[in-house]
Amino acid sequence: MRGSLLHQSSVTLTSELVRSLDIPGPRYTSYPTAPEWSDQYTRDQYREAVNQWAHTHTPVSLYIHIPFCTQMCYYCGCNVAIRKANATVGLEYISYIEKELTLLLSGISHRPQIKQLHLGGGTPNFLTSDELRALKNLIDRTCDIAPDAEVAIEVDPRTVTEDQINTLKAIGFNRISMGIQDFSEPVQAAINRHQSIELVTQLFQWIRSAGFPSINVDLIYGLPHQTVENFSTTADEIIRLAPERIALYSYAHVPWLKSHQSLIPTEALPGQDDKLGIFLEARRRFLNSGYDAIGMDHFAKSSDELAVAYRDGVLHRNFMGYTVKPATEYLGIGVSSIGYISGHFVQSTKDLKRYYADLDNGRLPLERGLELSPDDHIRQWVIQSLMCHFKLEKQEFFSRYHVNFDTYFSDSMAHLKTCESQGLIELTEQGILVTPLGRLFVRNVAMGFDAYLKQNSERRFSRTV
Ligand SMILES: C[S@@+](CC[C@H](N)C(=O)[O-])C[C@H]1O[C@@H](n2cnc3c(N)ncnc32)[C@H](O)[C@@H]1O
Ligand code: SF4
Repeated sequence: MRGSLLHQSSVTLTSELVRSLDIPGPRYTSYPTAPEWSDQYTRDQYREAVNQWAHTHTPVSLYIHIPFCTQMCYYCGCNVAIRKANATVGLEYISYIEKELTLLLSGISHRPQIKQLHLGGGTPNFLTSDELRALKNLIDRTCDIAPDAEVAIEVDPRTVTEDQINTLKAIGFNRISMGIQDFSEPVQAAINRHQSIELVTQLFQWIRSAGFPSINVDLIYGLPHQTVENFSTTADEIIRLAPERIALYSYAHVPWLKSHQSLIPTEALPGQDDKLGIFLEARRRFLNSGYDAIGMDHFAKSSDELAVAYRDGVLHRNFMGYTVKPATEYLGIGVSSIGYISGHFVQSTKDLKRYYADLDNGRLPLERGLELSPDDHIRQWVIQSLMCHFKLEKQEFFSRYHVNFDTYFSDSMAHLKTCESQGLIELTEQGILVTPLGRLFVRNVAMGFDAYLKQNSERRFSRTV
């Protein structure tokens, strides 16, 4: 950190303010957040939610989780299973994906329409070209993918092949996302993830020649040995590669949940001020190079549909990140996957053995879930509005829920006043406006509407900075 005052991109921050805002808090990819979902939630409830959805014939997003990776990155917070690439792992897993999809859709008379298909992980390109083809065939046998659907996959630059890229294009994928994180050598050594700029440049060429219209890259700030200087070099390399979208995630250090993160040398982690400085400098470089900031941690070229949707106020956010395809329902398939259907959150077991055993016994591999209460729905809408549109309009709230915003949220007013005094929001007659500074700390603003935080304030989330 250079001095105690940081002034960049129309955002003024003092070290004191950063310190007061850097508290454990949810990322709000869902509300209520996953720790609130219950293992008392039953398969009958899930079945009922699926039947209700099927009755309406509403299109869905489909998320399929492929958990396998060949090596563990020490920072990783995803649900992964480390396996050596071999002839049986992928095929066996696909056979269980088929079982789960068949079981989930049993008793449904029509073919679901898919608006968004996302293969996430782990590393979906752990599956060979033939296995990816087999997986896509099995989806096509049971569902109709909409002609304008977003069909996306996450790939690992270190392992994906040119043949896989061409296969993905041939079977209908139109978006590729890849993990990069950081190009600096000392950082890569500390996180156990070596990948050169040359390797990624080659991958960009394969993807572009195959004709994919959109590439997303993931970066992480707050990793060990990162500095403003070395991460600026990474940011400049990314700008040179010119992906359509960039996700710049704050490193979530949660070794009590992910024990391999203890291999990260904590003394090499940047401090609060430095971490924020790294983020702000990368952000400044992206904004100066034709990218728009989308939501908290995403950037898109100004011409990209995500940037257009953001400007038009029609952006949505779910477990797959920000999206322009506002399917209100999504089905999760695969170990640890999450779905949201007819107002129920559901998550499958994270244990691969149990996942297989449940399906062998003809049971949905459910681990936990939650049926949203009317209050949950209201707060979910408010938090979504703040996170995606950086504003809340009281009139719109009233037309949706027929209650007065100020009365309903009288308990949140003290929090909102504090946020206002910190410069995060402006409170107006019409509602709440999140300021440019508040956009960086929108999680803190949203926390004032989270009914569960008040009940369980000791819950341990990653920090908001
Ligand atoms: C499933 S991985 C991406 C695909 C592929 N497995 C890879 O690593 O290239 C999803 C992304 O989550 C992000 N991620 C993983 N662990 C994280 C953590 N602890 N904090 C912040 N972001 C994290 C990384 O940016 C990563 O690229
Ligand atoms: S970051 Fe990607 S490749 Fe690394 S362990 Fe996590 S899911 Fe696997």
